[in-house]
Amino acid sequence: MHKRHLSLLDKLISEADSVIKTITSRGNRASRPSPAIGHQDAPLSEPKRRHVAGLMRVNHTGEVCAQALYQGQALTAKLPTVRNEMRHAAQEEVDHLVWCEERLRELGSHTSYLNPVWYGMSFALGALAGTISDKVSLGFVAATEERVCSHLRDHLKQLPDEDRKSQLILQQMLQDEQRHGEKALEAGGTEFPQPVKDAMDSVSKLMTRTSYRI
Ligand SMILES: [Fe+2]
Ligand SMILES: [Fe+2]
Repeated sequence: MHKRHLSLLDKLISEADSVIKTITSRGNRASRPSPAIGHQDAPLSEPKRRHVAGLMRVNHTGEVCAQALYQGQALTAKLPTVRNEMRHAAQEEVDHLVWCEERLRELGSHTSYLNPVWYGMSFALGALAGTISDKVSLGFVAATEERVCSHLRDHLKQLPDEDRKSQLILQQMLQDEQRHGEKALEAGGTEFPQPVKDAMDSVSKLMTRTSYRI
């Protein structure tokens, strides 16, 4: 019992570093270059620039939540294979986080001030799902990725034609998130019932509405 507490504390300490990096937007490094690299910034009108910045801020918050979710799960997942799978996906989420952050900076905007709140909530949910079972935890990843993919598809439609940079970033993210969702189901994730998915939709709507502005 005593040993178990100690190892959880050890894990918490090792996660603290990534928690700080995610919340403060400092020190995270992408493992892949941004898909936008090498493409020219298109001149955007002021309303378009503000709209794209709002969308990219929502996507950035989504990535903060993904980080928190995976970190929470990695802490509690029982099977080492599941833990490793989570860590690998979490690294790809770091890429997304960094790419969105870079794009926001280029657009002369900022990340959401509410990120610490969303981080805390997602971390707790991830840890809770991981405590229940790996199947639930993986099911939660699958259901979350399903929601993220639908946002990304919607944002891709809303992006101005001339904003090639944001389009390329979101296209790559969409591919990655689809794969994360499929892998989570393949690894034995439970398909969540519709009422749970509906509840997740409501929370994600609240997140998108607030992060777009603040
Ligand atoms: Fe992501
Ligand atoms: Fe993902």
